Amino acid sequence: MAREPRRRRPGLAAPSSGFREDVIAGLSLPRKTLPPKYFYDATGSRLFERICRLPEYYPTRVELALTRANAAAMARFAGRGVALVEYGSGESLKTRSLIRALRPGAYIPVDISADALQRAERRLRREFPWLAIRAVQGDFSAPLALRMDSSRKARTLVYFPGSTIGNLTPEEAHAFLAMTRGQVGARGAMLVGVDLKKDPAVLHAAYNDAQGVTAAFNLNLLARINRELGADFELRRWRHYAFYNAALGRIEMHLASLGAQSVRIGRHRFRFASGETIHTENSYKYAAAEFQALARRAGFRPAKLWVDARQRFSVHGLIAT
Ligand code: TRP
Repeated sequence: MAREPRRRRPGLAAPSSGFREDVIAGLSLPRKTLPPKYFYDATGSRLFERICRLPEYYPTRVELALTRANAAAMARFAGRGVALVEYGSGESLKTRSLIRALRPGAYIPVDISADALQRAERRLRREFPWLAIRAVQGDFSAPLALRMDSSRKARTLVYFPGSTIGNLTPEEAHAFLAMTRGQVGARGAMLVGVDLKKDPAVLHAAYNDAQGVTAAFNLNLLARINRELGADFELRRWRHYAFYNAALGRIEMHLASLGAQSVRIGRHRFRFASGETIHTENSYKYAAAEFQALARRAGFRPAKLWVDARQRFSVHGLIAT
């Protein structure tokens, strides 16, 4: 039964074909940056799965518990037999309790990592032999998954857990929600996991774990550029640097240059001043009302809200308006 995840349709770039161009473009900016989607090669996906199990990284644990405790209510919210589309499904960890309660007509996991998708699909087929799974390898920033829902009789539920929406800027998050609203149609709904604003010390610890797994995950991006693009980043001369930017309500992740140095990628050479950083990721945190306002502007009615007792994480149930 194990099937290859589908590729993007011809005419659209393969997920990694723009890697070199994106890296060179990002490092050519006055404030250097790299797109976070490139974190997730096979090594990066496995490191990310370790992050999700770290004691300091509360979001996965809290969202999992919240989903388990409220799976029946989430299923009542969504209705039975939905086409369940999940963006950034990874190992489909939280999805399993949802699938059990929801009994979806089909499950369409979408992820940038072929490796993570294949492992998740294998496991889900064993656990839910009755479930129709149609894995899609790709980047959720472009519309691609819902065109496969040919039946269109079932309501589409887009599941977007993990506070992945926080990795977009609020403007991008609005555009993403509005695009999704267009795709799911008038009867569509979403379940979105969103990390809440909280004590910056708790946030700081979550992105600066004691074991250094998050640092390894961040640095793997440079290792990947070396491996795949033949660059010469000296990993020992870079440091993981993550902090909470309260004014913007986001964790920022950077890679900081230890000393002045230059790096070659093909015929390009990039210079870094001592302490200069490459900005690799944002993780925006939203108070419940802030996210509800964003969802409303994108064409959804915030219908349900689940929050854990210590108010660390939220899951929003949104209905198309
Ligand atoms: N969606 C996750 C978050 O923002 C992604 C994430 C967690 C992450 N830890 C990370 C991304 C470390 C990069 C590095 O919390």
